[in-house]
Amino acid sequence: MTLQMLAKGDQNLAGNLPPLYQKSFTDVLFAQEYQLLPQVSQRYEIDLAYGETQSLSDEDLVRRSAYLYKVGCRITHHYHICHRRPVQVDPDLKHRQNFFDANAYGVGYATHGLFPYRGKFHPQMIKGIMNIIGLKPGATVLDPMAGCGTTLIEAGILGLESIGVELSPFACFMARAKLAGLHMDCSQFEKLLDMSDRIFKFFDRTRSSVGSLFERPEGGCAGIALKELEGSEARKNLVLLAFLDTMGYATRRKTKNAEQLFPTVLRRYLAAVQDFNLVREELGLSLGTSRVICGDARKLDLPNDCVDGVIFSPPYSFAIDYVANDELQLKYLGIDPAALSASMVGLVGGHGRSLTERIKNRVEHYFRDMNTIIGECSRVMTRGACCVIVIGSNSNQTGGIRLEEKMIEFATTHGMPLHKLITREIEGIRNTMREEYILIFRKL
Ligand SMILES: C[S@@+](CC[C@H](N)C(=O)[O-])C[C@H]1O[C@@H](n2cnc3c(N)ncnc32)[C@H](O)[C@@H]1O
Repeated sequence: MTLQMLAKGDQNLAGNLPPLYQKSFTDVLFAQEYQLLPQVSQRYEIDLAYGETQSLSDEDLVRRSAYLYKVGCRITHHYHICHRRPVQVDPDLKHRQNFFDANAYGVGYATHGLFPYRGKFHPQMIKGIMNIIGLKPGATVLDPMAGCGTTLIEAGILGLESIGVELSPFACFMARAKLAGLHMDCSQFEKLLDMSDRIFKFFDRTRSSVGSLFERPEGGCAGIALKELEGSEARKNLVLLAFLDTMGYATRRKTKNAEQLFPTVLRRYLAAVQDFNLVREELGLSLGTSRVICGDARKLDLPNDCVDGVIFSPPYSFAIDYVANDELQLKYLGIDPAALSASMVGLVGGHGRSLTERIKNRVEHYFRDMNTIIGECSRVMTRGACCVIVIGSNSNQTGGIRLEEKMIEFATTHGMPLHKLITREIEGIRNTMREEYILIFRKL
């Protein structure tokens, strides 16, 4: 018996008592055959879920929805993908495990849980956005500030073609490794786990030689020879990402060093990849192809009118210093952090005699860069396509100027008026921003 049937039973027992309001607002919004996933509770999630039911057929909802559990008696692919096995984290970190358990359908599925890249997208939200802006398999989506590749991973799972442009070579490496994990031969994984101590020593020793990693256009892991890691560039890069994750993790842990932590991290990486590949085969998913370009969003190396949608999240002014954040990994890979900072949106500028002058100068640079990037997005989009910008309501680092208002102003001047605005509350005591905006623009 379902909960709804139990509630109906209550009505029968009520005899001739006056009626009391009983429906929930989701009963009004969603037809009876649509059942939401258990953790869908925030307003923006309900908004996106409703948008999905308005935009997709029932067949497509089963395959593509980010927020539904069931359509009639059919369980959605999203549920299957997330439900295979919950993310396993270091058993010492209870709070982290709690976070992943509480967000089982939102963040830790597929390869999204690999490497804690700061400021990355909420994957489930990106899937919902792709659905409501009408992107269908075969269409191409661009993320001009792709970070660790969340947009591209979601696009791949939905069968969309995708292009990611990202300035940081380390983030590009990460995105490529996570994307490759979506379609990987996992037959050697047990062997890799058995030799995790040797792998750790190997990467620890070869720090200087991986400096050549980015000289090759596809970011292959050059200069490395450990017999068991040969044969698959993608597998080697996945293991290297686990190593680089461990290096950063060890700096935050007091009780264990990197060598002791590596087997746990590697096990988690391989389990996540294996689980996704099993479910991909079970569901018969046909992944879209993706291209990660190490480049500058202010000057996209793409022709006019070549993408059917754009989704991105720029740095929130200078809330996060991505170069300082990833310094350890950048240096390991032989990349000069200072050279990278010179083109990082949000870090450019900052000249002047007083602190006030320096902040003013940096904010001016930030807005000039964002205006250029939005212009570039508009240039490469087809007519009628949507450009989605996810941005925080941070105004204390901008002298009171609201970021979302500036983005709307820039997009409008580039021929993309605001089509819809969704507010998303940000949870967590460590966040200084209380909400962020999903701004959906449409190119005229
Ligand atoms: C908020 S993060 C994006 C995170 C991404 N949505 C994800 O899910 O991982 C912003 C990204 O913009 C990148 N970035 C900064 N300046 C850039 C530029 N000029 N061109 C391209 N990317 C840039 C940063 O390296 C950072 O990864």
